[in-house]
Amino acid sequence: MAEHDSQQGHRLIRFAEQGDQQQVEALLRSRVDAAYQDPSDGRSALIAAASEGHAAVVKTLLAAGAPWNAFDRQANCAGDYALAGQHEDCVEVLLNAGVQAELILGAIERKARSAQPSNSSYLEQRVQYLKEGAQLVDEESQGVMMAWEGPLMQAHAKAICSGGGDVLNVGFGLGLVDMAIQSKNPRSHTIIEAHPDVLRKMREDGWEDKPNVHVVHGRWQDVISQLGQYDGIFFDTFGEDYEDLREFQHQMIHLLRPGGLYSYFNGLSADNAFFHMVSCEVVKCELAAKGLSTSFIPLPINVADPAIWQDILNKYWQLDTYLLPIVQWTSIDSGVTDCKDPSS
Ligand SMILES: C[S@@+](CC[C@H](N)C(=O)[O-])C[C@H]1O[C@@H](n2cnc3c(N)ncnc32)[C@H](O)[C@@H]1O
Repeated sequence: MAEHDSQQGHRLIRFAEQGDQQQVEALLRSRVDAAYQDPSDGRSALIAAASEGHAAVVKTLLAAGAPWNAFDRQANCAGDYALAGQHEDCVEVLLNAGVQAELILGAIERKARSAQPSNSSYLEQRVQYLKEGAQLVDEESQGVMMAWEGPLMQAHAKAICSGGGDVLNVGFGLGLVDMAIQSKNPRSHTIIEAHPDVLRKMREDGWEDKPNVHVVHGRWQDVISQLGQYDGIFFDTFGEDYEDLREFQHQMIHLLRPGGLYSYFNGLSADNAFFHMVSCEVVKCELAAKGLSTSFIPLPINVADPAIWQDILNKYWQLDTYLLPIVQWTSIDSGVTDCKDPSS
């Protein structure tokens, strides 16, 4: 029986690779598992079809239950192969499938979510500034913030200060984005920071004495209701997940003035190019539902040098392009989004 299943699975992969829609459909009708993966290399029919650019077969397999996010043994999913082969139509089909699946999964997971802060253990442990202030690490040597992000932080600061006025930053870290914001001389500059060791460092470095700076102590979740309105907002915390970012964005819309600009550190799924694309689209869809339009500025980035990650436990960035989010209120005449959120 198992041998028969694996033979049928291999036939499905072969027909998918050849783009033979009829044979693929016939096998699926005879209940061959659409999710079958060759045990030797992890290749699936979806990966085979996406690698060869057979978009119709990709659609059929997804409809039959093939998971968009299954990895082969080289840690690549079907979307990675579609991207590598520049098969735009396959990329689009897989991207839509990934976004719809993640929106549904998010809605399900939210129901089971604990009330405990996701980064409570981080906030309770000591953190240290190392390498003459170029690194902030926790007790397990996880990189909280690293100097290689400096050019990205400058680009974020430039974006959120582009309209002048009042600026809010959530998460101080090394203060890279805050130094860049200061260089733009905004009318006011509010910083929310939760970690006691980081707050101590901010005090020592004179951040509380700067005339236009207002440091708010505490978790953003606990202090956000005390805030006013801003022309530029940036969000970059540590140890929090997409649900935290999503919740922040839900509240942020009350803080962002008309004509204002919001951005966030775009590190979601930053260990896989296609997953990262899906995450970007999920955020874009959810912000569109709130009346905000999101675009991404691609910035080249090279962190391949192992010396950058020496002594750091979590290599939290693997990609060669950073997609800097620019989020603004959608103007009335800019059209409606075609994003369907199945969770709403
Ligand atoms: C990645 S660092 C920020 C780096 C910063 N953008 C920079 O340019 O250096 C994250 C910061 O967010 C702080 N943080 C984590 N969770 C927080 C929360 N819920 N509220 C406020 N700050 C938080 C951390 O203590 C840390 O200082």
